[in-house]
Amino acid sequence: MLTLDYHPTGRHFLQIPGPSPVPDRILRAMSLPTIDHRGPEFGALGLKVLADIQKIFQTKHPVIIYPASGTGAWEAALSNVLSPGDQVVMYETGHFASLWNKMATRLGIQTEFLSQPGTEHGVPLSWRRGVQADLIEARLKADTQHAIKAVCVVHNETSTGATSNIAAVRRAIDAAKHPALLMVDSISGLASAEYKHDAWGVDVTVSGSQKGLMLPPGISFNALSPKAIEASKTAKLPKAFWAWDEIIEMNKGGYWPYTPSTNLLYGLSEACDMLLNQPGGLDATFARHIRWGEGVRAAVRAWGLEIQCADPAVYSPVLTGVIMPEGVDADAVRKLIYDRFDCSLGTGLGKVKGRMFRIGHLGDCNDLTLMAALAGCEMGLKLSGVKLAGSGVQAAMDYFAGHPAQHSLLKAA
Ligand SMILES: Cc1ncc(COP(=O)(O)O)c(C=O)c1O
Repeated sequence: MLTLDYHPTGRHFLQIPGPSPVPDRILRAMSLPTIDHRGPEFGALGLKVLADIQKIFQTKHPVIIYPASGTGAWEAALSNVLSPGDQVVMYETGHFASLWNKMATRLGIQTEFLSQPGTEHGVPLSWRRGVQADLIEARLKADTQHAIKAVCVVHNETSTGATSNIAAVRRAIDAAKHPALLMVDSISGLASAEYKHDAWGVDVTVSGSQKGLMLPPGISFNALSPKAIEASKTAKLPKAFWAWDEIIEMNKGGYWPYTPSTNLLYGLSEACDMLLNQPGGLDATFARHIRWGEGVRAAVRAWGLEIQCADPAVYSPVLTGVIMPEGVDADAVRKLIYDRFDCSLGTGLGKVKGRMFRIGHLGDCNDLTLMAALAGCEMGLKLSGVKLAGSGVQAAMDYFAGHPAQHSLLKAA
């Protein structure tokens, strides 16, 4: 018999870069009875979460909430604003950018997949860095007929642990005086790393529930701009379930044109309360993640291993990719750590499969959860025969002890 809540003792260490651990407060909120999604109580919940999620995206414009994984919200974004055969520029930062590019092609969009030329460790250079906005600017300047309808980039590339400067991409589009829409995947960036939908001039931001929002998987988002809403009125890709217009209309009263994920919306309401009402607000979460990232990278450096992101200016505050020495299978190391120490780490995806693993440092963690995960890694690496230069656990302890968090528990109480 399959036992769904099997665990040996204590909590499993879920240190993948999403789904991130779901806090007890959110689990409890989701256990409320499911209510009539057309009744008055539901309308109040709907209006609350729709207003709260705007604060998380830092937008005054509509945010669509879909009962779907992030992949659904990718499709929604593309199919609302584009027409068959439209030209779109995408940028190869890693596996998720590649999947979004593949999806656009399947939808009948003509994509151009930009990337920084060159390889390192057998993978494209651009899998170790953020978007180079100057490449986008040059491409748009060459498009004097304005055939390119959108530029699509990933904010936090979850497969590599590199972020991209979205404000710089906006500046590149403006410098080229190009009307293309700016579409951003911030599935693992939202509520984890600073993100400003309106201030950065983003037209559509795609996100999901299971990362910085600390919810289970199952709901996802499109944050819109007035320009994107205008484009959706004439765009010709087929869209029905994903169409924004009917959802925006029904959302005015706090309802949806279909049965929404009621209990995940209870969870979303709780998550927004936790994120927005904590001492320091959302910025406290961003600072926490940056600090955890520093501590984890201190460990990787002490081990003498390489970090997947090669540009310190764009290290992800959400996750760190750890490259294995030549000849070591990263997935075998992960499996050993899972089997022996009850800790899940992220697998290498796409072009870096087997070459690296990922440590998530986001959401409902604390210094000691991360220390446990790093101890699991250190033991697992040694047991796998990886020669370590020193103790990453010691380096991370030194970092965390020497760099107190900005918002301490005692100050919050
Ligand atoms: C950056 C990014 N984009 C897209 C996705 C796909 O989202 P989902 O797996 O929820 O469909 C993920 C999932 O990890 C992601 O990290």
